[in-house]
Amino acid sequence: MTILVTGGAGYIGSHTVTDLLDYDEEVIVLDNLQKGHAQAVPPGILMRGDVRDPETLHEIFANYEIEAVIHFAADSLVGESAQEPLKYYDNNVIGAQRLLSAMQKHGVRKFVLSSTAAAYGEPQRVPIEESDQTVPTNPYGETKLAIEKMLHWCDAAYGLKSVALRYFNAAGAHPSGKIGEDHQPESHLIPIVLQVALGQREAIDIFGDDYPTTDGTCIRDYIHVMDLAQAHRLALHYLRRNNSSRVYNLGNGQGFSVKEVIAQAREVTGQAIPWLVSARRPGDPAVLVASAARAQAELGWCPAYTGLQEIIATAWNWHKHHPQGFAGV
Ligand code: UFG
Repeated sequence: MTILVTGGAGYIGSHTVTDLLDYDEEVIVLDNLQKGHAQAVPPGILMRGDVRDPETLHEIFANYEIEAVIHFAADSLVGESAQEPLKYYDNNVIGAQRLLSAMQKHGVRKFVLSSTAAAYGEPQRVPIEESDQTVPTNPYGETKLAIEKMLHWCDAAYGLKSVALRYFNAAGAHPSGKIGEDHQPESHLIPIVLQVALGQREAIDIFGDDYPTTDGTCIRDYIHVMDLAQAHRLALHYLRRNNSSRVYNLGNGQGFSVKEVIAQAREVTGQAIPWLVSARRPGDPAVLVASAARAQAELGWCPAYTGLQEIIATAWNWHKHHPQGFAGV
């Protein structure tokens, strides 16, 4: 039987596909390639198309024996979501609804969702637990939470079982250095810091140094993309073993400030990496750190990359050898 991975040409999706193939799963990828990269997917398994297109979905479910769906296809930029909320409701919420309808029609009942720490909004406490309140502060988090709620009701009505994985800050690259992070334009901290190390940017702009943290900059929980990939594979195993739905946080449980990330990147790259301080970015919580105890206990998830140094080192290995990202592949 086959696992359908939507958005499997994107950053986290492509690392998950590689991991699934390494563990002898049969995989097909559906990706519209608006953000994803065809070069990130092994030959022969990529179907170009959109999750919102019922005919494409019908073709896949009619032609493959799909056991489960891992759903990454989505827009995922917090800032953009505040500017264009309807785009996010369209791609994220309507996309998931069409996908779930096709699954329902074809009797597919296992679903793994790429969800986010943005579902919590401003945390009431850290580390954040799955049962903490979810009050998103931007449309991106809101649309992912809407999908989680859709999944709850699909379980109640149709017996569709799901695992929603709320990631904190995905970072790093495949240890082979063959795939990695490539967003156009880039907005995430670690790739931007490494672009400064490569001389592609003059300095890193720190968005605010007046937060109530030790050095005044925001603290985040960075989790390696291969550890996220491992969690998706384990979520699939969970759904094979259990007849229940679940939500899990994925993070290392340790927070690093923006200045600590820059300091670590200086060490890894041997470059100066100058920084400037600018205004706070709207909607950035001061501290986001996960409790991933539930995923460790119930999924048997065991992150392999627990230090910031090794996370940044794998990212650097990718960026150094692919300064133009997938355009140079
Ligand atoms: N930052 C800078 N300068 C930059 C880019 C980022 O100072 O040029 C700071 C941000 O203010 C933040 C930290 O670096 O404090 C990390 O920012 P990222 O943009 O890398 O990541 P976010 O924490 O904003 O976003 C991540 C995921 C989102 C998810 C969100 C949950 O990428 O998908 O966590 O809050 F929604």
